[in-house]
Amino acid sequence: MPLNIVYRPVTPSDLPRVSQLHAKVFGPGRFTRAAYRVREGTAPISRFCRVACLKERIIASVRFTHVTIGGAEGALLLGPLAVDAEFAGKGYAQKLMREALEDVKTAGLPLVVLVGDESYYGRFGFAPVPPGQITLPGPVAPTRLLAVEPITGKLATFQGLIVGKRV
Ligand SMILES: CC(C)(COP(=O)(O)OP(=O)(O)OC[C@H]1O[C@@H](n2cnc3c(N)ncnc32)[C@H](O)[C@@H]1OP(=O)(O)O)[C@@H](O)C(=O)NCCC(=O)NCCS
Repeated sequence: MPLNIVYRPVTPSDLPRVSQLHAKVFGPGRFTRAAYRVREGTAPISRFCRVACLKERIIASVRFTHVTIGGAEGALLLGPLAVDAEFAGKGYAQKLMREALEDVKTAGLPLVVLVGDESYYGRFGFAPVPPGQITLPGPVAPTRLLAVEPITGKLATFQGLIVGKRV
């Protein structure tokens, strides 16, 4: 029988369980990543963050952080995207991603960037950013800095360092 998975926006009371999921999926190494440094000091929830729940249990989550790129406003940094290993490979992450990206598009935001595998994120339209166009405060393999343009043609207008918007 299919599980009754509920997809919904993140609420403040979800945050401890989302943190536990991140710790389980990524381990302590998550704190050293360049994308983590962008998120430091930013709001833990934006309106685009979503979770997938099985009753009280959070089985998957995706976070979006408002950022500026070279001072330009409007872009989001996606990540972390995490699925509890027990529930991986069943399409829950894809549903979470598609709903969240639809929200971003409806809201009219011009660009979403992330650090990840094109072989996974390509299915949502993400493609590598031209090398050197956008930078993070730490090393990232150029092939892993990906972007999708909910508004076509906007990528070219973002150049420079990604900085998380402070609260
Ligand atoms: C990557 C992750 C989010 C995918 O979640 P999931 O629920 O397993 O994914 P889905 O069920 O929606 O999709 C499964 C598909 O993704 C593919 N996939 C999973 N991880 C992948 C990766 N790192 N690279 C390429 N493809 C990947 C599977 O092969 C499968 O492909 P198919 O649809 O062609 O069969 C999840 O495995 C996870 O949390 N991994 C650890 C954390 C992580 O790497 N997060 C992403 C970086 S922020």
